[in-house]
Amino acid sequence: MVVGLLLLAAGVSIVAGPAPVRAQEVTFTRDIAPILQRSCVRCHRPDSIAPMSLITYDDVRPWARAIRDKTSRPDDDPERMPPWFIEKNVGIQKFKDDISLTPDEVVRIGAWVDGGAPRGDPTEMPKYELAGGGWTIGEPDLIVSSPSMTLPATAPDYYGRIGPSPTGLTADRYVKAVEFREIRHQAADVERKSGDLNYFVVHHAVVGATAGAADGEPQPGQRGENFFVVWELGQNATIYPDSLGVKLAAGSALNFDLHTHSIGTEATFTIDVAFKLHTEGFVPKYTNNTMFDSLTYDLDIPGNKETVISALYPMTRAGMVLSFEPHLHSSGRRMCVEALHPSGYQETINCAGYNHNWVKVYYYEDDVVPLLPRGTILKVTAWYDNTAANPRVIDPRNWKGWGSRSIDDMFFLNSRVVWLTDEEYEEEVAARVATAGAPTQNDDN
Ligand code: HEC
Repeated sequence: MVVGLLLLAAGVSIVAGPAPVRAQEVTFTRDIAPILQRSCVRCHRPDSIAPMSLITYDDVRPWARAIRDKTSRPDDDPERMPPWFIEKNVGIQKFKDDISLTPDEVVRIGAWVDGGAPRGDPTEMPKYELAGGGWTIGEPDLIVSSPSMTLPATAPDYYGRIGPSPTGLTADRYVKAVEFREIRHQAADVERKSGDLNYFVVHHAVVGATAGAADGEPQPGQRGENFFVVWELGQNATIYPDSLGVKLAAGSALNFDLHTHSIGTEATFTIDVAFKLHTEGFVPKYTNNTMFDSLTYDLDIPGNKETVISALYPMTRAGMVLSFEPHLHSSGRRMCVEALHPSGYQETINCAGYNHNWVKVYYYEDDVVPLLPRGTILKVTAWYDNTAANPRVIDPRNWKGWGSRSIDDMFFLNSRVVWLTDEEYEEEVAARVATAGAPTQNDDN
């Protein structure tokens, strides 16, 4: 095609080179099914959370136009599919288990739909198998279930603890990855619509392991070496780097500190926690990890308006930032995090759209994890859309401030950090330079 264009530009009338790709040549079996199998069917399959299955051609065909609409929206559009809102034009772009579509894939889907959404050659259809029992981390080594709980149809948001649920471990183990699922037990499922805040009943669960049987009364999610995750609605799996030790001790149990939200119909649920574990005898390099305590309570979000709020968080220690996790509430629309280095250098680490049905956590690939020196100031900025244009805002006339209820608001960078000594920081930087190659003067050319 390029050849043809060049010839035309040169005034030559013969079009040479390969024939242009025509829209009807994009087929479901060859071009579209592989994309859906990678990025969609983890949710869009029977017995998962999405309203319809997107496995077979017959499943997908009626949704073709809706799929083109949902996949072609801007990166940060909260109604975009798949739910993954990292902006691709700024910041770090390598994440673990990234299910987002490349610009080329979005174009291919559009061309397929414009070409009449043909099936194509059935022999080209990739085989679909439900891997790992449907867990995105693969077949779990351990699944721990919370006790079940029933919420009445209408009630204020509930905050309290369920547990402990014993892990049953007889030796100390370290966690490689963890994934959560809200399991609902009512017979008939509630109707699930885009933009509906009643999609999940568990707004969040602070899930923490007790240090072991000798602990006595189980403590709330302990930070530090022991397993501790703030699991939030619609969240994807947490995949730790192999240098990090997150311990599940022998005889430990999980506690679930809940915030639940009644959804207009009685709902009984449990939370399943699936773990991938390192083999026994694993020796981690680092054993501390925590969340940034970057909460800002001074929120002033008027009704019927869009509002932008920024806050600064000085880092008193060096850190390795494992993830980007914006946590806002129903009027939240977008968050950016920037780093102001002690050298004066300033960089945008990431920006992402926000949808309070999908509180995503974006884990960096190990070789791009931001390494920040002591004295760095993080600048966090959040955008709120408290207008009728945001389907998650129940009544846009209301002013909002900080509050725990889903209909209040929050400002929270919930990213996970491993604190480093200055010596460890220097070591990590040296190792990064050794693998990535130091920039040379030639790079300026
Ligand atoms: C993490 C789970 C998840 C993934 C991954 C996912 N979806 Fe969805 N999808 C949902 C859920 C849940 C809904 C309904 C609620 C909503 O829109 O948020 C939905 C809704 C949709 C809708 C709108 C349906 C309607 O009623 O109008 C379309 C179209 C869609 N998804 C297509 C896709 C495509 C295409 C992909 C992959 C490129 C994808 N989804 C990936 C969970 C997911």
